[in-house]
Amino acid sequence: MNSHEQPIGIFDSGIGGLTVFKEVRSLLPGENIIYLGDTARVPYGTRSPETVMRYSFECTEFLLNQSIKLLVVACNTVSAVSLDEICKRVSIPVTGVIGPGARAAASATKNKKIGIIGTETTIKSSAYSKAIRAMGHDIEVHGVACPLFVPLVEEGWTEGAIARMVVERYLAEIKDNGADTLLLGCTHYPLLKKVIQEVMGDVRLVDSAIETALAVKQLLVEKKMTAMNSAAGTSRFFVTDSPEKFISVGERFLETKIGTIEKIQL
Ligand code: DGL
Repeated sequence: MNSHEQPIGIFDSGIGGLTVFKEVRSLLPGENIIYLGDTARVPYGTRSPETVMRYSFECTEFLLNQSIKLLVVACNTVSAVSLDEICKRVSIPVTGVIGPGARAAASATKNKKIGIIGTETTIKSSAYSKAIRAMGHDIEVHGVACPLFVPLVEEGWTEGAIARMVVERYLAEIKDNGADTLLLGCTHYPLLKKVIQEVMGDVRLVDSAIETALAVKQLLVEKKMTAMNSAAGTSRFFVTDSPEKFISVGERFLETKIGTIEKIQL
């Protein structure tokens, strides 16, 4: 396989990275893509940075062994704590989700107030505020961790009374703060978008998936690695625990069959 036809590798702690997969697949239909969800160890967002780092190196190594040409860290928690370290360890292009998300939110806000929601580890790291500041913006950032969102999504409870109650409880603080933009700083949260939007009213919701897909395309063009194949690219899925729930929630979200899914051990 030459570098054009090598796959893009995407990983997340679980199902949430499919939000990024979906955008990359739709923007780059000719690319072969390998997705890894570390479903046996999700959630990462409640673990220490050291543990998240170790898990993320194992995911990276697995994908490198699949001869990927580009790595997408489709997990905010990993992007927040170990992206720099991953970049140092690999010789292929890498993109995370924090930079693209921060850029999108900074250009969306009009009143210079952004709410950010994410896992405990992501919010504690202040990675988004740092990224927004590093881009030279003077924007007030208010972060809130929403640890119950991930289990809701993994369970497929993305609508209905329970989802709404949990969303209302976590987002009350951000509503009070008056931000006009809410950044979904966790790859799982776009699956709760409908309820989040209902609760937040006319606040603009931003997720990093589309921006990340654009960053992937740009990297491929820059590195002259875009797939030359005119046929549709292949998609392969790997998980580290039994695939049933991943398949049912994933297919509902992607609105297509997931097809072959392989269970592996890292
Ligand atoms: N995918 C993770 C993220 O984007 C959320 C799930 C987890 O905690 O592992 O932060």
